[in-house]
Amino acid sequence: MSITYFKRFQMELDLDQFEIPALELPGGYRFVAWNDNDLEKHASIKYQSFCNEIDANVFSCFREIEGCRRLLREITSRSNFLADATWLLEHKGPTSEKIITVGTIQALVDVQQRGAIQNIGIHPQHRNKGLGTSLLFKSLNYIKARGLQRVMLEVTSQNIGALRLYKRLGFRIIKTVYKPAPITNY
Ligand SMILES: CC(C)(COP(=O)(O)OP(=O)(O)OC[C@H]1O[C@@H](n2cnc3c(N)ncnc32)[C@H](O)[C@@H]1OP(=O)(O)O)[C@@H](O)C(=O)NCCC(=O)NCCS
Repeated sequence: MSITYFKRFQMELDLDQFEIPALELPGGYRFVAWNDNDLEKHASIKYQSFCNEIDANVFSCFREIEGCRRLLREITSRSNFLADATWLLEHKGPTSEKIITVGTIQALVDVQQRGAIQNIGIHPQHRNKGLGTSLLFKSLNYIKARGLQRVMLEVTSQNIGALRLYKRLGFRIIKTVYKPAPITNY
């Protein structure tokens, strides 16, 4: 086994300078506020959103549903967990009564009293419709309502789509960090 280092950017947005746009979700989609009973739904959509993405190479927890459950339990049991800024996104198709979970976001307050976004994920089949942007704005509204002036997140430099999304919204890179990750040679 060898170690590789993934370049990651810490990004920040000043919420005092940012008017959070009011976006309407496309038809059939709705937000669901955090509820302890929904941990499994968050874990499942986290897994589906991340398992085939670059961050599954950086963080082994994303490669298995059990890893995602552990991650969600760890985040949501912390004293700095921001339940109000933690949301699911659900979808109900026009011809079906079945409701499916398509997105997830969590947030914490960090030691610098900033909102800290954790691992936003949208199911691959529901991307490029503005849902990631809407989910992020939903969380930012509650972070701002808490009186937190700044919000931060971390993104892997190779995650071009996510990086472009955050830059477009006004997040700026404040720090570069290198995350070691074991690479298993089969
Ligand atoms: C990053 C991620 C959450 C973005 O979700 P998304 O729902 O596709 O995000 P959006 O639709 O808001 O934005 C993506 C693109 O769709 C475009 N878009 C927005 N609304 C649109 C619409 N109504 N119709 C078509 N395209 C639209 C955006 O302009 C954006 O384009 P860009 O690539 O030029 O920036 C998603 O790709 C994902 O889950 N990735 C895997 C997990 C991950 O890496 N998460 C980030 C960890 S830091």
